Amino acid sequence: MMELEAEFNKVFKSVDFFQDKEQVKLLLDSLKEHDLATYQHSLRVGLLSYKAAKEFDYDLEDMFIAGLLHDIGKIAISPDLLSKKGTLSVEEWLELEEHVETSYEMLKNDYVFCAEVIRRHHKYQQDSYPVNLPELNEGLVNRVNGYAPLLATLDYYDSYTTRTDARYPTKTNVKTAMLEEFPDLENLVEQLFLYGVLQN
Ligand SMILES: [Fe+2]
Ligand SMILES: [Fe+2]
Repeated sequence: MMELEAEFNKVFKSVDFFQDKEQVKLLLDSLKEHDLATYQHSLRVGLLSYKAAKEFDYDLEDMFIAGLLHDIGKIAISPDLLSKKGTLSVEEWLELEEHVETSYEMLKNDYVFCAEVIRRHHKYQQDSYPVNLPELNEGLVNRVNGYAPLLATLDYYDSYTTRTDARYPTKTNVKTAMLEEFPDLENLVEQLFLYGVLQN
């Protein structure tokens, strides 16, 4: 934990591109207070997003913010549900899935682009959600569709390699698991491992 925060602080301090660094920090601090595991997951996905952005020439600020705040909507979900290890009921799943729209609502005014990317971070997986997202306007569609798959795969990687709950029961080869989870993103997954952003 200390190590993770130290690494995050180092990278966070080193970037000078944030419109409002303090706001990002405040959101992360409230998440930390609400649910430590989600906070740590967010830091790790943020750091992976930053690393991937550097490697693949994505905008550093957008990718870093998208990674750090992708699950910020979980702040509205009870910590008991967030940390529940057993199988979830249908109602609990639906409640959990709402974090996507909550994140979007929280960020859509100040971080228009990141909010759209974040809204799609569960769109590419096998049990894709939310369904029926409104269409993006032409000015955003290509860019969002370039960034959202990257965030989705990094998020999945971190969950797969760190979580022990019912959704991620067996730990085998993470790359194989990702290729199964994202059959349409084979190239991206291969590149993430090839360039060392992710480790098998
Ligand atoms: Fe999520
Ligand atoms: Fe996540």
